[in-house]
Amino acid sequence: MDAGMSASPLIEARGLSKRFATPARLSDIFGVKRPDVFAVNKVNLSIEAGESVGLLGESGCGKTTTGRLLLKLIDPSEGDVLFDGAPISDLAGDALIAFRQRAQLVFQNPFDALNPRFTIERALAEPLVNTGVDSATHRDRVEKALAQVKLPPLARFEGLFPHQLSGGQLQRIVLARALVLEPAFIVADEPVSMLDVSVRAGVLNVMREVRSSLGLAALYISHDLALVRYVCSRTLVMYLGRIVEEGPTAELLKAPLHPYTRALIQAVPVPRVDQQRAPLPIMGNVSDARGRPKGCGFRERCPLALARCAEEEPQLRPIGAERRVACHIV
Ligand SMILES: Nc1ncnc2c1ncn2[C@@H]1O[C@H](COP(=O)(O)OP(=O)(O)O)[C@@H](O)[C@H]1O
Ligand code: SF4
Ligand SMILES: [Mg+2]
Repeated sequence: MDAGMSASPLIEARGLSKRFATPARLSDIFGVKRPDVFAVNKVNLSIEAGESVGLLGESGCGKTTTGRLLLKLIDPSEGDVLFDGAPISDLAGDALIAFRQRAQLVFQNPFDALNPRFTIERALAEPLVNTGVDSATHRDRVEKALAQVKLPPLARFEGLFPHQLSGGQLQRIVLARALVLEPAFIVADEPVSMLDVSVRAGVLNVMREVRSSLGLAALYISHDLALVRYVCSRTLVMYLGRIVEEGPTAELLKAPLHPYTRALIQAVPVPRVDQQRAPLPIMGNVSDARGRPKGCGFRERCPLALARCAEEEPQLRPIGAERRVACHIV
């Protein structure tokens, strides 16, 4: 089955777009209107209950904005997100509160998620207090979440503040803090990028186990191939606000099809035997996301670009049963 077109996904984006107005500068006073930034551009994606999906791409390609749109932390310029089949744009009042419990963000930097003046105990209970969960259940829920992330019981953290914990412990606390609300879906934005290599493996292990034991759907946003390889069954590759390739992670990393994915995978040290295709050099940096692009957004950096690539925007189309690619030459 085409993973992107399943019958009843837990979460689904349809034609999702987000435009940001470029901040006015002094030069704008003289009437030069600066074009909007198309951070996310007509994205379709879907995630099943219990599925872990990676969203891969260089900095600035629109990953964080996509995650924030899926959680209704910002509203789209166009398109919508369906959660359990219902559009999240309509959610308000109790339904919005219920959605906020079921769909959680796990922060990149533990210090963004944790108030330095709150004890760990308070930080873990805070989401339960904020969403009005019966206080009699708080202790049990917190203990359960700590066990899920392989941390010791709450008594061991008594009176401790975030700065007294290690980076790896903090990242697990942040994950536990999301899990106390027993979500169905989490977005983890660059979840281990702040950690030393030595502690990353432990946290990645926890994420993998959380995935299989809780049946949680998750979107792991990362520029890190090792993370998606280890944690995600399916991966989406994003470039300039668009999904350019999608497929089962192992296959996609082993035999990338889109020139951008090929370059991305070549840019990091992975064992060469793992790759079935020749490396492909790309030129320059991520192009500017300002203005609606004509043709393929990747064409200025693509060593394989044809004349057609400047005229026609390639659409994501199926290649085999489980993969999709947006490129004229694939
Ligand atoms: N609040 C904002 N206002 C204006 N531009 C933004 C805002 N948030 C993101 N952008 C722009 O949108 C693009 C995508 O950003 P982002 O989603 O953060 O990418 P990523 O997470 O892949 O690094 C970038 O060009 C960024 O500068
Ligand atoms: S559509 Fe053209 S420019 Fe875009 S990735 Fe494919 S070959 Fe390169
Ligand atoms: Mg980001």
